[in-house]
Amino acid sequence: MDLLHFSIFISVIVFSHRNCYSNSESISYESSSELKRARDEIIRVANLPKTLTWMKKIRREIHENPELSYEEFGTSAIIRQELDKLGIAYQWPVARTGVIAKIGSGFSPFVALRADMDALPIQEMVDWEYKSKVKGKMHACGHDAHVSMLLGAAKILQQLKTSLQGTVVLIFQPAEEKGKGAQKMIEEKALENVEAIFSLHTATQFPTGTIASRPGEFLAGMGVFNAKIRGKGGHAAIPQASIDPILAASASIICLQSIISRETDPLDSQVVSVTKVHAGTAYNIIPDSVEVGGTFRAFKKKSFNALKERIKEVIRAQVAVHPCTVEFQFFVEDYPMIPPTVNDHKVFEHARQVSVDMLGEKNVYTAPCFMGSEDFAFYLDHIPGTLLLVGTRSEEAGSTHPPHSPHFAIDEDVLPIGAAIHVAFAHSYILSLRSRNLSSKEELVV
Ligand code: NI
Repeated sequence: MDLLHFSIFISVIVFSHRNCYSNSESISYESSSELKRARDEIIRVANLPKTLTWMKKIRREIHENPELSYEEFGTSAIIRQELDKLGIAYQWPVARTGVIAKIGSGFSPFVALRADMDALPIQEMVDWEYKSKVKGKMHACGHDAHVSMLLGAAKILQQLKTSLQGTVVLIFQPAEEKGKGAQKMIEEKALENVEAIFSLHTATQFPTGTIASRPGEFLAGMGVFNAKIRGKGGHAAIPQASIDPILAASASIICLQSIISRETDPLDSQVVSVTKVHAGTAYNIIPDSVEVGGTFRAFKKKSFNALKERIKEVIRAQVAVHPCTVEFQFFVEDYPMIPPTVNDHKVFEHARQVSVDMLGEKNVYTAPCFMGSEDFAFYLDHIPGTLLLVGTRSEEAGSTHPPHSPHFAIDEDVLPIGAAIHVAFAHSYILSLRSRNLSSKEELVV
């Protein structure tokens, strides 16, 4: 999408928001001149050529210097340097490399916008001027763009700060790829006083200038399991003197297949995959133990938790038949359990409406559920919020490869779009919360 179109879409938000929300009970969009000024400022700053140039520069610098989970010290330094230049106060370090900035009145309501910062252990295969300078590391999931878009939002919000009727909390978190960053940020009070949270993830399956998401269950919960099955090792020629863990493991693997095929509602999509089996050292030795591991996924929290319990029951029962013992591990290093990403219906509908106003109804899609997972789910386990995908597919920009591919690229025209959607959401959701909080106080008085 070129910036001219973007300018038109942004203009649409200014004029249509008021109509769109004037009859809504959740959002009070009175046509105050202050609000109009705020909207004009979103348009003006997002459309400035120097804003795009600045956001591209940040994104490219981060792209050239990718850092893996919890190693994002350089990325964090870039963020703090830009926040310093913008005159925005922040807290650092949070969760080792994370940054939390606040813009606005300093009082409630608090609404959070989140970007993740980490890269992946992938060798970049895209030949372009700002290719990764670090061997074997690459921003192949668009997190460099996420940081740039959130800094873009910070710049616009800083221009709007006197008209903000609450506080926007900007969360730059580490270690999304290891699935631990969000959890650690929450432990270190990132969500203190926050009433709603919003995040964007770039998506190369949708064209630039589009948004896609869905209410309720969106991305799967993801867990891994490791079962250490113990028997009694011995000579393979004297099997009666041993307890064979390989037989117990084999029976377990076969029976695990029946959980999805025979016990699960076909309309409640779930996955159990055994992906590793480690045992034995020789042809003539029955080993002492076998390790069986794999992954399980589901969209509904109830199904996800039930799946974990059923995997334990099935393996325990098969192991007992053979008769071995078993020890389970469900929090394997680098693979914590990530809950399903469930978008709050109210927050989602607000974000969808903001997106429709900005990009037009035909450019806002209802996304299918994805079996992938996102650690944004941890925030959604604590407070209402929503995750939207922001399209960045462009043949011209070469951004047609899926995330985590060495050929992954993004269309940088997404940057001002993402920044403006962040701002439009936060600005209007604060108003919505204020009006909701005020009306509940009035009810109390009555
Ligand atoms: Ni990602």
